[in-house]
This record gives sequence, structure tokens and C-alpha cells, in this order.
Amino acid sequence: MRTCLVTGGAGFIGSNFVRYTLSHYDDVRMVNLDALTYAANPASLDSVRDDPRYEFVHGNICDRALVRRIVDEYRPDYVVNFAAESHVDRSIENPAAFVETNVLGTISLLDAVRDAWASPRASFASTHRYLQVSTDEVYGSLSLDAPREKFHPDSPLDPRSPYSASKASADQFVNAYAETYGLPVNISRCSNNYGPYQHVEKFIPRQVTNLLNGGRGKLFGDGLNVRDWIHVEDHCSAIWAILTRGAPGRTYLVGADCERSNREVLTAILQAMGREPNDFDYVRDRPGHDRRYALDASATRAELGWEPAHRDFLAGLRETIAWYENNSSWWEGEKDKTEAWYEGVGKRGR
Ligand code: NAD
Ligand code: TYD
Repeated sequence: MRTCLVTGGAGFIGSNFVRYTLSHYDDVRMVNLDALTYAANPASLDSVRDDPRYEFVHGNICDRALVRRIVDEYRPDYVVNFAAESHVDRSIENPAAFVETNVLGTISLLDAVRDAWASPRASFASTHRYLQVSTDEVYGSLSLDAPREKFHPDSPLDPRSPYSASKASADQFVNAYAETYGLPVNISRCSNNYGPYQHVEKFIPRQVTNLLNGGRGKLFGDGLNVRDWIHVEDHCSAIWAILTRGAPGRTYLVGADCERSNREVLTAILQAMGREPNDFDYVRDRPGHDRRYALDASATRAELGWEPAHRDFLAGLRETIAWYENNSSWWEGEKDKTEAWYEGVGKRGR
């Protein structure tokens, strides 16, 4: 039996990863450490709650004593760090919270695994791996005028939001621990995820739930910003491939070659939901709004033999819309709070 400690496993990608791993691999025990912030939804884990291979620990990754205790008690073979403040708009409101969890929380985890894994009981065994779940946003923003340009693993870091600056900083610490202590690490940098269980503050769920509530879509700025979309299950299968087959110390890009402007995505959602093409409003733009993300994951595919399974974006979008339609109890409690938050940001003039 292998033990995998995930942090942030009650969030969007983490909960998908817990379910994905338990359903695909019989010999894995999942321990989930999550602080249950506003971004978590314990209901995302209802289907695994009674699985004897699943354990939940309520706690903060910044709590260094707790993290050490958990690592000592469960002796994980793998640690996958999903826990983060993940919303760019919130990072513009409160950058310090992002430094706290995303940077200091990462260091707390790195210290704990370095000390546990290098102790005489187990000296950086080949089975040990720490995986930092990072983002393509650390590379900054691409231009719409150079459509062939994409991010590569060794593109220069150029974060432009407090969120991406905190993620880039954490990545630098992960690499520093690999160099300094020989810690077996990987970094995955994935593009924008979509799929079930994503918080209603994020682009696709916000549009879908606005429309389900009889409201309208909301496009920041001119709506021409481009994101490179990947289904969350494909991100999960990539993480597993990196964890089990990746070369220690390496950074892997994860993406599915699916660039779409926000306006294209919203148009597809409106059409799939039987609404008029102009059922949306242009709203005040996000300050420092990154124009375009696109990444080249060919090295990850070639080296690990990983391929995304969800290749039809419109089909994935329709399934995601149906999921929100059929699971309104999962998101309704957060919807009004989230819209009130966006309204507050607007009133403060940003
Ligand atoms: P999310 O906001 O949905 O979930 C974050 C989870 O972390 C929540 O369950 C929350 O309770 C938990 N958490 C937050 N602070 C914590 C702390 N201090 N201690 C313990 N738990 C804490 O985020 P997500 O979209 O699932 O993203 C997961 C990871 O993937 C993040 O590191 C993010 O940077 C990265 N990522 C996300 C995307 C995307 O499109 N969502 C793309 C690439 C990378
Ligand atoms: P988001 O889901 O916040 O992810 P990120 O900023 O990390 O890429 O936003 C995705 C894109 O959608 C981004 O360009 C901002 C835009 N957006 C809107 O146009 N309207 C919205 O209501 C939201 C939440 C985002």
C-alpha cells in the first residue's frame, strides 16, 4: 500500500484528484489535509468519505507542528500540494494571504518532508516524491499578436498578479530544496482547468450558475483574453503520471492545446444553455489582466506517455453545464456570497 498525502483535497482539483486516484488505483491510501477555507466544499468528497483508504485531517499547511505530526504519523510516499489561495481577483484584494498559504505553507511542507524522508529510517528513497501543483500563470502573459508563441518549461518566470507571484515564489523554494537538500521534487504547471466541483467565483462556473439563476454572463474588459483550457480529470491523470514516472527535479507543463477567448467560451455556454448570444454584460476589467496563456506540453507527453482524454472541449463544457444543473445544492450556498463579493469589488472601484 502506498500513502499519498494531499493538501487542499477539499478544493476543486484536489477533490477530483482524490476521487480519481482512489477509483483508479487499489493500492493507494489518500490522506487529505485541508483547512476548509471558503474555497473548500466537504460535499465534494461525499463519494469517498466511507472508503477505508481515505482519511481527512482538518488543518492548515502553515501549522508547522501539525504538518510535521501528520508526516511522521502517516509516513507518506507521495506529497501533492494543491493547498493554495487560488483566485487572482482575491489576490488583488489581499496579497498577504497568498504569501502566507502559497509561500510559507509550501515551506512548512517542504521542511516536514525533508526531515522525515531524510531521517535514518528512510533516506530519500526512490519512491518518495513531493509534487508542487503550480500554474502556467508564473510565466506571465503572452501577446495576442504572436499566436504561435507558447510557454515552455524553461520560459522565464514573469508573474504579474499577486497570485502568480506567490506561486512562482513557492516554485523557487521547491527547486531550492531540490538543489540544497536533494529533496525529490517535481513541479507541474498546468493551464486553466474546467469541470465539476469548481467554485462559482471562477469563470466557467460563474457564467453557468448566473444563467441557471436566470441572470446574465459577465465578461471582464473586452472579453478577448485567451485561456488554454484542460479538463480537470486530465490534469489529475497528468499529476499521477508525474508522481509515479517523472524524473526527480523536473518541471512538467500540463495542457491540452485548447486556446479560447473568454468571449468564445461564453458564447458556447450561452448556446448550449439555449440563451440569446447577447445575454451577457461587459464589466470592469481586472487590473493587470493577463492577456493570453498558452502552453506547449509536448515534452510532458513525449517523456511520460501522458495524453489528455477529454479532447472535445464543447462536449466537456456541455457535461460541466449539466453537472452544475444537476448539483445545484453543491453550489447554491456560495452563489450569493460570491456575487456580493464581486459587487463589493466593483463598488470599491477596481
Ligand atoms: P481551490 O481554491 O478550489 O482549492 C484550494 C483548497 O486548498 C481548498 O480546499 C482550501 O480549503 C485549501 N486551502 C487553502 N488554504 C489552505 C491552507 N493554508 N492549509 C490547508 N488547506 C488550504 O483551488 P484549485 O483550483 O483546486 O487549485 C488547486 C491548486 O492547483 C492550486 O495550487 C492552484 O494554484 C493550482 N492550479 C489551479 C488551476 C485552475 O485552473 N484552477 C490551474 C493550474 C494550477
Ligand atoms: P479565472 O477563472 O478567474 O482564472 P484565471 O484568472 O486564473 O485565468 O478567469 C478566467 C478568465 O475569465 C480570465 O481572463 C478572467 C475572465 N473572467 C471573466 O471575463 N468574467 C468573470 O466573471 C470571471 C470570474 C473571469
